[in-house]
Amino acid sequence: MSTITTIERLLKHVGETVTLRGWVHNKSSKGKLHFIQLRDGTGYCQCVAFKKNVDEDFFEALGNLGQESSVVLTGEVKADERAPGGYEIGVSGGEVLQSVDGYPITPKEHGVDFLISQRHLWLRSKKQWAVMRIRHRVMMSLRRFFDEGGFLCVDSPMFTPNACEGTSTLFEVPYFDRTAFLTQSGQLYAEASAMAFGKVYTFGPTFRAEKSKTRRHLTEFWMLEPEVAFASLDDVMQLAEDMLCKVVRDVLEQCRPELEALERDLSKLECIQGPFPRITYEEASKILLEHPDSEFVAGDDFGAPDETILSEMHDRPLMITRYPAEVKAFYMKRDPEDETKCMCVDVIGPEGVGEIIGGSQREEDLDELLSRIRKHELPEAAFQWYLDLRRYGSVPHSGFGLGLERTVGWICGVEHVRECIPYPRTMYRLEP
Ligand code: 4AD
Ligand code: MG
Repeated sequence: MSTITTIERLLKHVGETVTLRGWVHNKSSKGKLHFIQLRDGTGYCQCVAFKKNVDEDFFEALGNLGQESSVVLTGEVKADERAPGGYEIGVSGGEVLQSVDGYPITPKEHGVDFLISQRHLWLRSKKQWAVMRIRHRVMMSLRRFFDEGGFLCVDSPMFTPNACEGTSTLFEVPYFDRTAFLTQSGQLYAEASAMAFGKVYTFGPTFRAEKSKTRRHLTEFWMLEPEVAFASLDDVMQLAEDMLCKVVRDVLEQCRPELEALERDLSKLECIQGPFPRITYEEASKILLEHPDSEFVAGDDFGAPDETILSEMHDRPLMITRYPAEVKAFYMKRDPEDETKCMCVDVIGPEGVGEIIGGSQREEDLDELLSRIRKHELPEAAFQWYLDLRRYGSVPHSGFGLGLERTVGWICGVEHVRECIPYPRTMYRLEP
């Protein structure tokens, strides 16, 4: 009996005979040889079957295997620098579980619409394999960063009675005899949790009924949101910088095969180190107003093209602070030096990925917050629990939200966020 192992662990078995279980990614034959590119989810490995080393029926069966046939292959592990992945299997036996003919996704070029409609199968492709594995590493790294930093993970609910980020992008769901909303952000609950536990984070899916068809928008995306009692805007900006540096470093250390599969320019990640450039909205406005390609109008929020212009001036994430209160959410604290601005930050990723983080110091004064809720015409009754946080032991506090898919897209060098979540949900796509 040979040891059952995975491609990722072959380095521990050089010279031994092992068994791999997986799917045929690619296959070619040359006379008495079959070259099978096996994938097992952990990696890719070339398995070479010599006619003289396996029984006749099995050799013939291997010759007929189409893409995505499922197989068990046994053989000796050889270290081979020229082999993709660094190892090769000299096949001595095995079993065909299912021989497949006519797998819909072939190695030739397909349109993205077709691929997205085949997402349940497309996930098996090499690029998607790499992106999903990096996504997992980013999630692990983020969690570890906060867990080791003394944060408590306190989950916010998905069904909520009120809006967090404006009422225009709420998904309504029937909730027995009333209406609930899918959460746009876990922040309001994270604030309550921070008053209970000090330093917290919430990490989960969030929903926006955004009628945006851009490469940056999903209707369901994941957000990681730390919230810190007694922290200022500057404190959480430093936290965001440290977090991003750590995550990029972890991916560089742990995901080399994946980055290689994506042909990612590593120099673009290696330079991600603090301190990140920090400018104010006013400074950014000035740059844009003088820029020939910008259509920016003073006082407006920055559009995607504006963010791209600004981010291209830097090789690392750009932190833009103190936006006009007019264009931001109701809960943000006003800048004590300029009442028209708020104590907020947007972090714009490099290489044109756009905003990856939005954060702020929160308004901690009851009367101020109440007047904002009224000004934004939000239902006061639904916010009473949130106002309680300002009635009972209110303290300065701040936090931010990191969009997972945009962050993964940036790190992977993948243009569109739909490839950065396993099963993307957009305005036009609910299937598969
Ligand atoms: O800037 P946003 O709207 O901030 C909040 O929701 C705050 N309540 C977060 C907080 O302070 N706790 O969203 C945060 C991030 C954005 O920077 C972006 O990366 C991502 O979430 N994001 C989206 N990602 C994909 N598709 C969408 N439709 C997104 N909307 C926001
Ligand atoms: Mg934002």
